[in-house]
Amino acid sequence: MRIVSLFSGCGGFEAGFGELHKTVLLNDIASSARDVLRERFSNVPLIEDVRNVQPSDITSADTLVAGFPCQDVSIVGGQRGLAGTRSALVEHVFRLAAATRPSYIILENVQSIRFVHGGRVLLYLMYAAEQLGYSWAYRTLDSRAFGLPQRRRRFYFIASRNSDPGEVLLSDAGIPLPANLLDQSLPVGFYWTEGRSGHGLTADAIPPLKTGSSIGIPSPPAVLFPDGGVKVPTIETAERFQGFPEGWTEAAPPRLRWGLVGNAVSVPVVRWISDQINSPAPWDRKLSSPMPDRPIWPLAAWGDGRGLRLAVNVQEAPSSLDLGRISHGNYSWTDLSDRALSGFVNRARESRLLYPGGFLEHLEARLR
Ligand SMILES: C[S@@+](CC[C@H](N)C(=O)[O-])C[C@H]1O[C@@H](n2cnc3c(N)ncnc32)[C@H](O)[C@@H]1O
Repeated sequence: MRIVSLFSGCGGFEAGFGELHKTVLLNDIASSARDVLRERFSNVPLIEDVRNVQPSDITSADTLVAGFPCQDVSIVGGQRGLAGTRSALVEHVFRLAAATRPSYIILENVQSIRFVHGGRVLLYLMYAAEQLGYSWAYRTLDSRAFGLPQRRRRFYFIASRNSDPGEVLLSDAGIPLPANLLDQSLPVGFYWTEGRSGHGLTADAIPPLKTGSSIGIPSPPAVLFPDGGVKVPTIETAERFQGFPEGWTEAAPPRLRWGLVGNAVSVPVVRWISDQINSPAPWDRKLSSPMPDRPIWPLAAWGDGRGLRLAVNVQEAPSSLDLGRISHGNYSWTDLSDRALSGFVNRARESRLLYPGGFLEHLEARLR
């Protein structure tokens, strides 16, 4: 495929599609992202603002990929949906698709797009694809099922002009991910910056990497190890938790690397999609049922492009499930500071959240 990448960030799609496909255009407004893209894909033209990308820039492409900005559709954003200025930028994907009619449009975003803002942003995606006469399929996939020790449930949407995208995204119905059973003989990931309203406790993996604060302060998760140590991953380990090689973002200013990595699409999930595109197979219609009404769209669905929309009962892990585990890898860590840890413990003690027995006591023991 000849790929045009919009909102390229630090290049998760490009890293995942790899050598098999050719990226012909990159795009990102953030200079830190462009630093990385120039370093990693030095021969590929790069346009700064998506609003300036013209159909004539992309005529030779047959695939558009876009992990469009998620702030307006994520739970932590303002939830303004398409009224928000950032997520509304996805309209440029369809503006360019209408003019150039690529074979595929591939989108990625947070899975809360299914219900934030009454599910209207996802409704817009279905509708916009159908207006172009494209069939579409979407599916929620968890990066943890692709060998990464990071829980990261994300929304993947493929629209196609001349083939059934269900044969790519839905043909492997997958298997259930094991339950997140906390067992303190294994590492436990959590967000030390939270404590009052959430904590993201995750067994033998980290909760989703985040963009960090809007002023660029890194916000890495922490891990309680069975020996009582409380650590945070180095930025190189965070890159590996997204499937990038260590040092992938080193061309960017150090304090902005966390944001780039937290924003990225997980590389092995894109690799899986790429493999599925190379070997499409029929999907099982018996797994489909009528599409429920808003405000919560199902975890996976399909549309024929002519108005028929179906919910599809597939799993968040493919049948090749390779569960990522911190305890199975050799990762690099630094200690979480006492100040940060005691702040978390104090917030957690004041909160009404339920913590598994022994968890906060282990953290307090480390402080003592
Ligand atoms: C969710 S991130 C995409 C991450 C990317 N898929 C990756 O793997 O790294 C969204 C990106 O959109 C970029 N962006 C926001 N507004 C933009 C605009 N007007 N033009 C181009 N890029 C924009 C942001 O800088 C950010 O890097």
